[in-house]
Parts: sequence; structure tokens; C-alpha cells
Amino acid sequence: MKIGLITLLPEMFAALSDYGICGRAIRDGIVEINLVNPRDFTADKHRTVDDKPFGGGPGMLMKTEPLVAAIRATKEALTERSGSVPKVVYLSPQGVKVNQEKVVIEAQAESLILLCGRYQGIDQRVLESEIDEEWSLGDFVISGGEFAAMAIVDAMIRRQAGALGDSESAMQDSFEEGLLHCPEYTRPQSFEGHDVPNVLLSGDHAAIKRWRHKQALGTTWRKRPDLLDARELTSEQNDLLKEYQKEHGDQ
Ligand SMILES: C[S@@+](CC[C@H](N)C(=O)[O-])C[C@H]1O[C@@H](n2cnc3c(N)ncnc32)[C@H](O)[C@@H]1O
Repeated sequence: MKIGLITLLPEMFAALSDYGICGRAIRDGIVEINLVNPRDFTADKHRTVDDKPFGGGPGMLMKTEPLVAAIRATKEALTERSGSVPKVVYLSPQGVKVNQEKVVIEAQAESLILLCGRYQGIDQRVLESEIDEEWSLGDFVISGGEFAAMAIVDAMIRRQAGALGDSESAMQDSFEEGLLHCPEYTRPQSFEGHDVPNVLLSGDHAAIKRWRHKQALGTTWRKRPDLLDARELTSEQNDLLKEYQKEHGDQ
């Protein structure tokens, strides 16, 4: 997957490219990150990338001409290299909230462009002429789109074949199959008077799998019942959930 990131602060993306699973996937060429700075598309001596809003008011906007030139150059380059026209996404608190289902779908694209806003955002005409979709991290405002882009790209990298080792399989993650991840335990076997559930020490793989599935259903039911309302459980899952509710009390 080839991802174009349009940002006034490309240095911030070292947090993505230099560490952990994402760093390894980028180094291995599983995902290609292209950082594009609108400042490199300015024509004035001061390389200006902000401008005042018409009508006055506090704050600045991203300057139109360098921003549009950066978007178009990135789109052209990625189209040529990936063989498909990338969607151009503006990261914005006004966008659709990104969830795992969206990540799974969008991570299948050959290429994608994420525009990281700064200041008070971008000119409405740029939004209308250049942007295909607006994506939000949630109903809160952060100072720039970079953290949003990093979170979303990280989630997309986890979906790329070969990005995770077996032991880090994305299939166990919360929201896969519409459920939250089951509780996990590590050493010590007994910690401050609380023991690891016996089944996890049994070596019985079928029993462990069944227990984990039951816990995932129960955890989802307790923490995010809305996820269960949105799907139909199989009769086996209904039985497991009833068993969980009986063991833990109905609340
Ligand atoms: C200070 S914010 C501007 C917010 C804008 N004035 C508004 O209220 O809609 C600057 C930039 O941060 C990014 N941003 C802020 N909150 C975000 C969120 N919840 N999700 C994604 N991006 C966000 C956007 O790219 C935005 O252009």
C-alpha cells in the first residue's frame, strides 16, 4: 500500500516510521510512506503556508495554492506508481468517525492520501474540489491531523499481509468479528492473591479456545453491549454468553 501524507510537520511521522510494528513494515516495504510538505510548493521568499480567514476572526488557515499543488502532485505521483487513483482524505473532526470496519475496507486500497490539517483547517473550496472524504478520530479537537493520520495508518498497517508476526495476529484484536479481545494473563501465575484461570494452564487447546471465545462474548456484553446489538449471535455463541452470565451474575 502506498500512502501519501500531506503535512506541514513531516518530522512528526518519525514516531510511526522509526518504531515497532509500523517501523518494521515500512522498512520491509509492506507499506510505503510518502511525506509531502506544502511548504515545498510555495513560491514566496518566506515559504508561507498559512493565511488569514476572510471575514476576520481568530486563527489562520492553510494557504490555498501550496496546499492544492501538494495534493495534486501527490495524487499524480501515487496514481502513476500504484496504478490506481488514490482517495484523498482530509482528517477533520467534522468527518465520519473511523472504526475497525472502515480500516479493514480502506486498508485494501493500493494507495491513499491523507491530508493533515493545521491551524483552523482549510479553505472550503479546497475541501469541495480536492477532497473525496473527511475522516475523524472522534468527537474532540486536536491541534493537527498528524496524530490522527498516524493512528489510522498504524491501524491500516496491522491489516497488511506480513506486517504482523503470528504471535501478534490482528485476528485476535478487538472488533475483529465484532467482539472485544478476551482477558489475557502473563506471569506470575499468582499475583497478589489472584490466580490465572486454571483452563489457561491446562494445555487443552480446544478448552482454551472455547474459554477465550466465551470471555470475548462476555467482555463485549459487559463493556460494549452495542456491539452485540448490531449483530446476530450463533446458537453456540448464545449458549456461551448465557454460561458467562451465569458464572459472573447477570450484571
Ligand atoms: C485545530 S484543528 C481545526 C478544527 C476546526 N477549526 C474545527 O473546529 O472543525 C486543526 C486540524 O486538526 C485536525 N483534527 C482536529 N481534530 C481532529 C479529529 N477529531 N480527527 C481528525 N483530525 C482532526 C484537522 O486536520 C484540523 O484541520
